[in-house]
Amino acid sequence: MSILVTGGAGFIGSHTCVELLNAGYDVVIVDNLYNASEKAVDRVKEITGKDLKFYQVDIRDREGLNEVFDKEDVESVIHFAGLKAVGESVQKPLEYYENNIGGTITLCDVMRSHGVKNIIFSSSATVYGDPAFIPITEECPKGVCTNPYGWTKWMLEQILTDLHTADPEWNVVLLRYFNPIGAHKSGMIGEDPKGIPNNLMPYITQVAIGKLECLSVFGDDYDTHDGTGVRDYIHVVDLAIGHVRAVEKLKEKDGVSVYNLGTGNGQSVLDMVKAFGKACGKEIPYVIKPRRAGDIATCYCDASKAKKELHWEAERGLEEMCEDSWRWQSQNPNGYAE
Ligand code: NAD
Ligand code: WQD
Repeated sequence: MSILVTGGAGFIGSHTCVELLNAGYDVVIVDNLYNASEKAVDRVKEITGKDLKFYQVDIRDREGLNEVFDKEDVESVIHFAGLKAVGESVQKPLEYYENNIGGTITLCDVMRSHGVKNIIFSSSATVYGDPAFIPITEECPKGVCTNPYGWTKWMLEQILTDLHTADPEWNVVLLRYFNPIGAHKSGMIGEDPKGIPNNLMPYITQVAIGKLECLSVFGDDYDTHDGTGVRDYIHVVDLAIGHVRAVEKLKEKDGVSVYNLGTGNGQSVLDMVKAFGKACGKEIPYVIKPRRAGDIATCYCDASKAKKELHWEAERGLEEMCEDSWRWQSQNPNGYAE
């Protein structure tokens, strides 16, 4: 039986497909390639030396999804597909709610009609809003999101929980990611943002490669060790392995479970600038700018629940994250484009 991976051609999805194939699972990808390239799929096959099925289908396309579920023997779904640009979601709330929430509802409905009731969902630390306490445990109450993207994650967690309440045959694992960076060791797959990156690490790598001039550091007056924002950066390969453990967890049929996937360490923007400069052997020029709307000072997790219950913990440190991000960027200056 196969694991169906929606959004499997994307950044986290492609890395997860590598780890699933390495662990011996059969993989079926469904991706509309809105924010991805089919080359990522080819490279997943090249890295692992294994084959997989790829369908260019939109998760909002009920007929297209039905055909995939008719053809494939799907055991569980890992659901990455969605739009993820925080700023854009403020400008395009309907598109975000329609794609992320509408798409997930269609997906779950098609799953149900095919008797597939196991799902792992990509949630985000963003559901904690401005967290009530640090380090953030899963007990920390969900907060007030500052943008529609965050609300889609917040609401989808609720929708999937309600689905289990209505039909306890559903097994749901909600994975709240902190800040994924890094890339596969081969340098063949990695993060390939469209246009100017919104997130810190891809911005830094594009400054290092000379595509962008200078990093803007958003705020140096936060209550943190150097005044810049602190986040829990996690290597995407560690995150990917976390999904393989979650697939194993689904087999215990636990109903709804929720896990933070982070390292438990906090790094500031300036810590990241320094660590990346060391990895790429050049200084990253930066200027201090005002705070970015919606940002919080500090966000890092307590990852002990995932360690205890998923037998998973992040193993790759900051140096390795920076080196791997740099290898991907320098080997692929234009991402997957020629
Ligand atoms: P990504 O954009 O690289 O991957 C998402 C994939 O989904 C893309 O390949 C895109 O083409 C596909 N997709 C989007 N809408 C679709 C649709 N309607 N039908 C089919 N495919 C569709 O993003 P990512 O960074 O790999 O994130 C994966 C998931 O993890 C997303 O749900 C994201 O919200 C979540 N997440 C990401 C981060 C992060 O910082 N990268 C943090 C927390 C949560
Ligand atoms: C990290 C730090 C910025 C860019 C976002 C989403 C979150 C999740 C992960 C999807 C902050 C600072 C950034 C720049 C900067 N995604 N920064 N200059 O905001 O923690 O999380 O991605 O679910 O939901 O909100 O990540 O990488 O954008 O920012 O100074 O050019 O870097 O202010 O302190 P963030 P980020």
